[in-house]
Amino acid sequence: MSKDSLSPSAITTGLGTRFVGQRVLYYPKLSSTMDIARKEARRGIAEGTVVIAEEQTVGRGRLKRTWLSPQGSIALSIILYPRISYLPYLVMLAALAAARSIEKVTGLKTQLKWPNDVLINGKKVCGILVETEVGENSAAYAIIGIGINVNFKVADFPEILDVATSLADELGRDIPRVKIIRQLLAEVEELCSALPDGEPIYQEWRKRLITLGRKVQVRTSTAILEGIAESVARDGSLLLRQADGSQTRIVAGDVTLR
Ligand code: BTN
Repeated sequence: MSKDSLSPSAITTGLGTRFVGQRVLYYPKLSSTMDIARKEARRGIAEGTVVIAEEQTVGRGRLKRTWLSPQGSIALSIILYPRISYLPYLVMLAALAAARSIEKVTGLKTQLKWPNDVLINGKKVCGILVETEVGENSAAYAIIGIGINVNFKVADFPEILDVATSLADELGRDIPRVKIIRQLLAEVEELCSALPDGEPIYQEWRKRLITLGRKVQVRTSTAILEGIAESVARDGSLLLRQADGSQTRIVAGDVTLR
C-alpha cells in the first residue's frame, strides 16, 4: 500500500485550532509516543503539543498489553494540563474525537465499546490510552494516546486478524492519514471546550456505547465477571448487573459482548 507523508507542516498548516496540534513533534521511529510525550510534559512543553510517530517499536495498550502500530497506522499522543476534575472525561473525549473524525473523513459508521475502543462493524479500528500524573491540587499532566489502524491490511498481522480492522480494509482503498489527524485534533479541541461541564461529553459517549443493555463478559485484572452492562457512571466506570441481582462497579477491564 502507498505511504502518505506525515510531515508536521502538513498537519499544522491552516489547522484551525487554538492550541491542540499547534506544535507537532514528529519521529520516524520511536519506542512509544507516550514516553516522549511524558518527557516533554514534565519539561512543561506547550499544552496541545502532539507527539507522532511513523512507527513505534514498543507501542503500549491498556492493561499492560502491547499495541501494534505498523507503517500506515496513526500513533500519536496529545499533551494536556487539565484540572483534576476533568480527568474522568478524557477517555470519553478521546474516544468521541476519534469516532467523529473517522466518520467525518471516511463516511464509515463507528461504534464505541466500553471503555474506549472504537469499532467498525464490530472490529477494533482505534485504541485509546490515557496516562496522567496528578499533583497536589491539579493534574500535573495528562497524555492522550490514540492509535488508529489506517493504511494497512489487518490480514498481514495474524495476531490481530480476528479482532481488528483498518480503515483501508473497510474502504477498499488507502486514505490520507493527515486528513484524519487534522480532523481528530480539531475534534479534541472542540471537546476540550466542553470539559468544564463534562456532561455533554459523558452523554454523547454513553449514547454511542454499544455495550449498554447487552449481556457481556468483563475481564478485570483479578476476575472474569458476566452479566448485563446496565449503565456507565460519570466517572467512566461500568455498572454490571450479575445473575444474582448484585451490581458491580468496574473501573478497568475488557468487555466481550456475548
Ligand atoms: C488500547 O486499546 O489498549 C490502547 C491502545 C493505545 C495505542 C496508542 S498508539 C499511540 C500511543 N502510544 C502508545 O504506545 N500507545 C498509544
